[in-house]
Amino acid sequence: MASPTGATRLAAVIGDPVRHSLSPLLHNTAFESLGLDWVYVALEVASGRAADALEAVRTLGIAGLSVTMPHKEAVADACDALSPDARRLRAVNCVVNEDGHLVGHNTDGAGFIAALEAELDFDPAGRRCVVLGAGGAARAIALALGRVGAAEVAVINRTMERATEAAALAGAVGRVVDADGVDAAIDGADLIVNATSVGMGPEGGVPFEVTLLRSGHTVVDIVYRPLVTPLLDAARSRGARSANGVSMLVHQAAIAFSLWTGVEAPVTAMTRAVGSMLVD
Ligand code: ATR
Repeated sequence: MASPTGATRLAAVIGDPVRHSLSPLLHNTAFESLGLDWVYVALEVASGRAADALEAVRTLGIAGLSVTMPHKEAVADACDALSPDARRLRAVNCVVNEDGHLVGHNTDGAGFIAALEAELDFDPAGRRCVVLGAGGAARAIALALGRVGAAEVAVINRTMERATEAAALAGAVGRVVDADGVDAAIDGADLIVNATSVGMGPEGGVPFEVTLLRSGHTVVDIVYRPLVTPLLDAARSRGARSANGVSMLVHQAAIAFSLWTGVEAPVTAMTRAVGSMLVD
C-alpha cells in the first residue's frame, strides 16, 4: 500500500469486538487495486458510544464508516438521514459522510441478493424462500427477498415474535412457520437460507431434518467461519446447490465501497483477498 499523505481519505469500521473484522482487508484491497488514495482502519468503540463515534466521524471528516455489532441500531438512531432499507430495518451497517451530513444505509440485503446472483446464478423472483432466523441479518434478507419478487418468504425462528417481525418485512409474501410446519416449508422451498448463528460453532447443528434436502434446493449459510457448516455439508452430500457467507460478505462491502467512492468495487480482488484468510 502506498504511504498515506495529507490528501488520503479515511474510512473505518466501528464495533466491539472488531479486531477480527475482515473489512479492513476487503476495503484496503479494493482501494489498492483501483489506485484510490484511501485507507481503512478498524476502531474499537464500546457499547453505548455509537453517537459519540458518529460525532467523531463528523469532526474528523472520516469519509466512510462501516458499522458492526453492537452498534447497528444505535447508529441508525444517530444518523442525520437513513436510506429506505436502513429505516425499515432500524439498523445501519454503512454510513456515508456527505460534508458532515451522515446518511445511514443497510447493504446486507442487497449484498445477499448480489451474492446469490454472482455465486449461484439464482434469481429469487417467483421462487419460494425459507429464511431460518430473525436477527439483523435475517431481517435484511427477508426484506430484500420480498422486494425482488420472491413468491414466498417463510421465516422459521426459535422466538416466534421475532419471526413475525421479520416476515412482515417481506410484505404480502412473508409468513411465519411454526414448529409443525417446518418440514413442509423446507420440502416446498427453492431457496433455504440459514441466517441464525446455529451452525457456527463446533457444537452447531442443522435446525431441521437434513434428509429433506435434495438436488432441487439451493442452500445458503450466511456464516463463513467455518467455511463449510454442518448445514452446507448436509446440502452438498444430498446434491443441493450451496454457498457460504463469503460472497455476501464481499458484496455488502462492495456496495458500501461504491456508496463512499462512487466507483464500482473490484469484487474479484476482494473475494481473492478474503479467500486467502479463510481456510477450514
Ligand atoms: P444477527 O444480528 O447477527 O443476525 P442475532 O440478532 O443475534 O444475529 O440473531 C441470531 C439469530 O440466531 C436469531 O434468529 C436467534 O433466534 P432467536 O430470535 O430465537 O434468539 C438465532 N439463534 C441463535 N442461537 C440459536 C439456537 N441455539 N437455536 C435456535 N436459534 C438460535
